[in-house]
Amino acid sequence: MSALATVKDVDGLAGYLAAVEERLAAVIVGHEGTVASVGADALAAGGKRLRPALTFLSAPGGAASPVAEGVAVELVHMASLVHDDIVDEAHLRRGRAAAWTAHGHFAAKATGDHMFACAFATLAATGSTAQVEALADAALALARGEALQRLQRRNPDTSVEQYLERCALKTGSLFAAACVLGGGSAEFGRLLGIAFQIVDDVLDCSGETFETGKVPGTDLRDGTPTLPLLLAAREDDVVRRALAGGPLEGALVRVAASGALERSREAALDYARRARASLNGAVRREELEALVDAVVDRDR
Ligand code: IPE
Ligand code: IPE
Ligand code: MG
Ligand code: MG
Repeated sequence: MSALATVKDVDGLAGYLAAVEERLAAVIVGHEGTVASVGADALAAGGKRLRPALTFLSAPGGAASPVAEGVAVELVHMASLVHDDIVDEAHLRRGRAAAWTAHGHFAAKATGDHMFACAFATLAATGSTAQVEALADAALALARGEALQRLQRRNPDTSVEQYLERCALKTGSLFAAACVLGGGSAEFGRLLGIAFQIVDDVLDCSGETFETGKVPGTDLRDGTPTLPLLLAAREDDVVRRALAGGPLEGALVRVAASGALERSREAALDYARRARASLNGAVRREELEALVDAVVDRDR
């Protein structure tokens, strides 16, 4: 919850997130069996619950809290993480063994599939067709973004535009849906999501496991061309070769030495600025602005 530290005092948010948490547990552990116990594990590991917070802050004051909507968005997010860790061969998630590491590929795939299905069942029970459509669009974009990432793998000549397109698909789309499901703006969510992913990609190079709950250097090891790695690879042949699948020794230190982390951070700040500027007229403008600041100023 630390990214939300600055906004956690917003009236009603803590109660809303507690209601989301309770409903998530009820949905995930609603049946007996493997997917319920693996899902319960993933749920217990926590997470910042940033997307439901966005849904809440996008909702018009006085309206009923969008609990089902926040739950549906978080379920799609959790499903994507369970699957993403298999694809990225990432062993640590939220400070614990990733689902596939602890329970195997099959159980992790089934758990992610189950979470996706639960997300749509939860939303369809009370939501409008337009809401279900918004979440379905995001889930599709997310899958396309992850596929695009595979295509770009180990290619240090991936352009910044291609990288940003991937961020918009795999992260911006779900942030956009989180806002839309609350009644807010897709454009704000998309811009914030891109800023968020750039920061995540910087943290993958420079973050600490005790804060991120993930293993640093995963993107370089996988050959995932993130903005800091692409910028550094343009200037440093060791980084370029590492990103293309060559030896990794010393490469991450050279990424830091190249100034690519600062330049990436600038790019994230620019998207954050654009997100803030798009908030004209939003009901909870101040709170959303604080959330934007929290997203770019985080270490977990
Ligand atoms: C991680 O998202 C995946 C990305 C889009 C970079 P979060 O950092 O929001 O993950 P949790 O939910 O807080 O663990
Ligand atoms: C985000 O990308 C994953 C999804 C949008 C599903 P990453 O692969 O960078 O996320 P982390 O770093 O594993 O959390
Ligand atoms: Mg990953
Ligand atoms: Mg990452």
